[in-house]
Amino acid sequence: MNTKDRILKMLTDKKGRFVSGEQISEELGVSRTAVWKHILKLKEEGHKIQSINRLGYQLVNSGDIYDRSSIVSKLNTKILGKNLFFFDVIDSTNDELKKMAADGAPEGTVVVSRCQSGGKGRRGRQWQSDADVGVYMSVLLRPEIAPDAVQSITLAASSAVCKVLEKYVPNRLGIKWPNDILINDRKVCGILTEMTAEPDKVQAIILGIGLNVWHKENDFMDDLKESATSLCLNTEKEISRSLLVAEILKELEDLYLNFIEKGSSAQFMDIWRSFSITIGRDIIIYQGNNKWQAKALDVLDDGRLLVETPDGKRQTILSGEISIRNCNS
Ligand code: BTN
Repeated sequence: MNTKDRILKMLTDKKGRFVSGEQISEELGVSRTAVWKHILKLKEEGHKIQSINRLGYQLVNSGDIYDRSSIVSKLNTKILGKNLFFFDVIDSTNDELKKMAADGAPEGTVVVSRCQSGGKGRRGRQWQSDADVGVYMSVLLRPEIAPDAVQSITLAASSAVCKVLEKYVPNRLGIKWPNDILINDRKVCGILTEMTAEPDKVQAIILGIGLNVWHKENDFMDDLKESATSLCLNTEKEISRSLLVAEILKELEDLYLNFIEKGSSAQFMDIWRSFSITIGRDIIIYQGNNKWQAKALDVLDDGRLLVETPDGKRQTILSGEISIRNCNS
């Protein structure tokens, strides 16, 4: 096999993921300039190869072209994504959108990135955000509500994502309170909600959605191998990340506008409950350094979790982390 064909094989083996020029040059023992010339030749021959500074080269799977125009061409929304920014690399879409919000960005502004160098998870954790295997997006909402009503809106996001994923993985999806989306008990999507507010009024809600799409088992970091999964590991259907983004925005917008117009979270709470794997389960609740057991009885319309402790006392929890006993995630 000549060098050009070996480069094509390397890109093909990576199945749509990026390979850096440095990696190709080291593995094949040729200079970076030679790699670049071979890539140009491959492009002339009609191979769809994308070159992106800092990421390298990627053989584009024609079903999964992922850029601003392909998302915008699929968008069918009135507000969400009308102002959409697409980055190749960014530290965190949430952080970027937070800055935009502080500078007055309008409701519905969306930031999407191919990868994140500092993707953030809940409770100060990191969110694995490798190039081109996931959807990393943040949505700005500016509802006129009190800060303590925000928790319920965040549940609209997991309900919207489930409605979209259901088309790919019927019957195996579940939501773990408040916002973890699981397939067969393994986490496929996480949502990080951040907010700026005055004492009685929300200024901005940033809904950050991280969805594992193209990860193979070995792509997950060691501590996630047992508990994480991706969409492609669970469906035979064709996947387009642009379509996923457009569909999530559409579902979210429908639920959000209904909430604003009717002043009620009933519509998305019905959806949320239909996907819930929390209600009725024995759980462990983590709050700060405390950890305690309870049974999850219900999720109230304002997003609080109603639990019963082993001594029969009932109480509600507004925030925190839970694990479900006998569940991987
Ligand atoms: C979780 O821990 O479950 C929440 C993960 C949220 C990850 C997303 S990816 C897009 C957005 N930007 C971030 O830095 N985090 C969120």
